Amino acid sequence: MKVLVSGASGSIGSAVCDSLLARGDTVVGLTRDASRARSTNPAVSWHAWEPTLERPPAAAFDGVDGVINLLGEKIDQRWTEDAKQRIMESRRTGTHNLIGAMAGLEKRPRVLVNQSAIGFYGNRGDEIVDESSEGGKGFDAEVVREWEKAAREAEGIGVRLVIVRTGQVLDPRAGFLKQLLTPFKLGVGGPLAGGNQYVSWVHIDDEVGILLWALDNDKASGLVNATAPDPVTNKAFSKALARTINRPAVLPIPGFTLDLMYGGEFGKVLRGGQRVMPRRTLELGYEFEHPELEEALRDLL
Ligand SMILES: NC(=O)c1ccc[n+]([C@@H]2O[C@H](COP(=O)([O-])OP(=O)(O)OC[C@H]3O[C@@H](n4cnc5c(N)ncnc54)[C@H](OP(=O)(O)O)[C@@H]3O)[C@@H](O)[C@H]2O)c1
Repeated sequence: MKVLVSGASGSIGSAVCDSLLARGDTVVGLTRDASRARSTNPAVSWHAWEPTLERPPAAAFDGVDGVINLLGEKIDQRWTEDAKQRIMESRRTGTHNLIGAMAGLEKRPRVLVNQSAIGFYGNRGDEIVDESSEGGKGFDAEVVREWEKAAREAEGIGVRLVIVRTGQVLDPRAGFLKQLLTPFKLGVGGPLAGGNQYVSWVHIDDEVGILLWALDNDKASGLVNATAPDPVTNKAFSKALARTINRPAVLPIPGFTLDLMYGGEFGKVLRGGQRVMPRRTLELGYEFEHPELEEALRDLL
């Protein structure tokens, strides 16, 4: 199979490319900086693309069977007006331009697997939410709504579409877990802002597993959540992490430190959370490799 991946240089994107290559697929990557990307992963065939300014080149789609759309300006930064525009437009305009290029092809890829995020649900306390739940409030929920709306343009051109609403991806090399590891190893990590907010996590192998299962499985379409069926409170997550790395001491981190680090708007998002269940993902037959937190952390660390 020949697969085109946008955001292929990112942390999820490189894991996806490695898995596709390992099973013998041909991988085309889209990036803003092809020479940098080529030096990090020469086995991928790279094409340059500025997602907010243009459609990707038609040549990148030559013989492509499926597309995985993973790009996006990073979320964990101060949400200045400029940053908010990059966060929104990289996803909304980037996805629109990607599908615009697909629409113009004589032979289109059969499937688009479009990344999304559980930020869609907003801050929900201990309410259990799944793919059928209403969206929440706030800038992150608004970004996801616009991102998914752009992705739905694929349905209009007859391409099977799977939207993968992803939770906190656990990977010691990147993101949430990487950021937590240093303070926890030093014995100064602990529950954030009271720790009652839920963390809906997914092991990086299951994140990649769900994206590839969505790509391969003709019965998969529409929304699926990529979160393990074991969401836990931030307090329980902190305890499990401390136990896994044999650092029993956990030091609570007050909410205002998040505001100092990230500013009030994104700080507020970090103090909240959502308790997400992957109901449709399970109903459609995906089997999680790492459904339980303690085992997942032991495997990763
Ligand atoms: N990691 C998580 O826990 C998580 C959870 C839910 C959803 N997601 C979403 O999944 C996607 C991939 O996540 P990731 O963790 O792999 O992210 P990442 O490591 O930051 O990679 C994202 C890629 O998107 C491209 N990109 C970054 N800023 C851009 C911009 N302003 N305009 C256009 N392209 C830009 C970059 O590729 P080039 O520099 O090569 O162009 C980058 O490699 C993101 O959309 C993210 O929001 C991630």
